[in-house]
Amino acid sequence: ISLSFFSRSNSVRLLMTLYLTVASALPAGDPCEVNMCSNGGTCVPGTGTPFICICPDGFSGDTCNETETGPCIPNPCQNDGVCEATGHSRRGDVFNEYVCKCQPGYEGVHCQTNVNDCAGQPCENGGVCRDLDGDFKCHCPSPFVGKHCQLRCISLLGMEGGGIAESQISASSVRYSLLGLQRWGPELARLHKKGLVNAWSAAAHDKNPWIQINMQRKMRLTGIVTQGASRMGSAEFIKAFKVASSLDGKTYTMYRTEGQRKDHVFVGNVDNDSTKTNLFDPPIIAQYIRIVPVVCRKACTLRMELVGCELNGKLTQMLLSVSSPHQKKKIKRTLLISDKLFIHEEFLLATTLIYCSSMNMSVLIIKLQVLLTRSIFPGNSDNNVHKKNIFEPAFYSRYVRILPWEWHERITLRMELLGCDE
Ligand SMILES: *[C@@H]1O[C@H](CO)[C@@H](O)[C@H](O)[C@H]1NC(C)=O
Ligand SMILES: *[C@@H]1O[C@H](CO)[C@@H](O)[C@H](O)[C@H]1NC(C)=O
Ligand SMILES: *[C@@H]1O[C@H](CO)[C@@H](O)[C@H](O)[C@H]1NC(C)=O
Repeated sequence: ISLSFFSRSNSVRLLMTLYLTVASALPAGDPCEVNMCSNGGTCVPGTGTPFICICPDGFSGDTCNETETGPCIPNPCQNDGVCEATGHSRRGDVFNEYVCKCQPGYEGVHCQTNVNDCAGQPCENGGVCRDLDGDFKCHCPSPFVGKHCQLRCISLLGMEGGGIAESQISASSVRYSLLGLQRWGPELARLHKKGLVNAWSAAAHDKNPWIQINMQRKMRLTGIVTQGASRMGSAEFIKAFKVASSLDGKTYTMYRTEGQRKDHVFVGNVDNDSTKTNLFDPPIIAQYIRIVPVVCRKACTLRMELVGCELNGKLTQMLLSVSSPHQKKKIKRTLLISDKLFIHEEFLLATTLIYCSSMNMSVLIIKLQVLLTRSIFPGNSDNNVHKKNIFEPAFYSRYVRILPWEWHERITLRMELLGCDE
């Protein structure tokens, strides 16, 4: 008997079986007391024969004393390539007795060549490619993201636009000026905010001031725009600051650039009005971001905007189709499946739907059933502020249709779909 054709795991299983069936059947003297098997073979008591040798790979024969032969022994394939004997076949003038099935990332007759997955320069926008076995990884400079650094992660997250609500902004302290009549609250820290009281300012006694934004879900941040303000004719601004971030609102990590052991200090503003943009490279992935002033002029006063994107990214390849551009008559409140969406460039109401598509978004049409079985999504309440709706859980679809349910004046819409490829 030769058991040498079994792979190792099979051998072990067989060995166990043999032990179980045989051990009770043969009470008399152990034929394996002296191991008769050569070359590391394992001896087990046999039924017809006194013992059976289970041979290691490459050996066969009753006592494993014969060297197995064959085109795949020893394995001619390198880098864990799997050898498959093909029998004697003639291809051209070459005898091929085996083929090597290579692991991903290797090629060549014997899988001897490590394919350079970076050879085709897959990284765009200055990304640095690293060759992995059968894959590559792009190290993207901010604000580029994506497998090929092909996406720009540069959406304004809504401090100025209002997408970030007052309730999402908090601070260590608030300055009251003019005998307490002016409140420089964190909710005012919006880029380009106008008015007499138009920014956040930390209280004078606050020795460790900070302002924090809760983005309500994990986001990718690639930059921050800061601006000071003037109070009673005097410029106040943050000259230098650090940035901390958190996934849970409890544990915060100070931002450091790669390979640095010290917290990164960002250079801030120089006057009351001009904006300063700092990039996060690498980007910050967090739900909470905290700006920690380090040096302030007169007071730690700030207006700001965050730059980044959803982790899932925008769906960029979309085709839109609409039922009735610029249609005068009112759309009936009860919409049928055949009713299509009304979209026009002049749309004033902004709606953002977040949506995770795996597929090729060729056409943008809503899946009626999906939306109706879920809920009616709250839309906009004015003509400019973004309203974000999250599909939780995300869904896979090729077509998405948005059905206006209630509207102000005419149905108008600007929108973005967010999703990912996986
Ligand atoms: C293996 O051993 C058997 C008997 O144990 C013997 O007949 C045979 O010639 C041996 N083969 C080799 C290659 O040594
Ligand atoms: C604030 O900035 C504006 C525009 O740059 C400038 O005209 C004004 O003098 C500044 N005010 C103070 C108090 O520095
Ligand atoms: C998407 O689908 C269209 C039509 O079916 C096809 O022409 C196009 O190549 C596809 N794009 C991708 C990225 O698969």
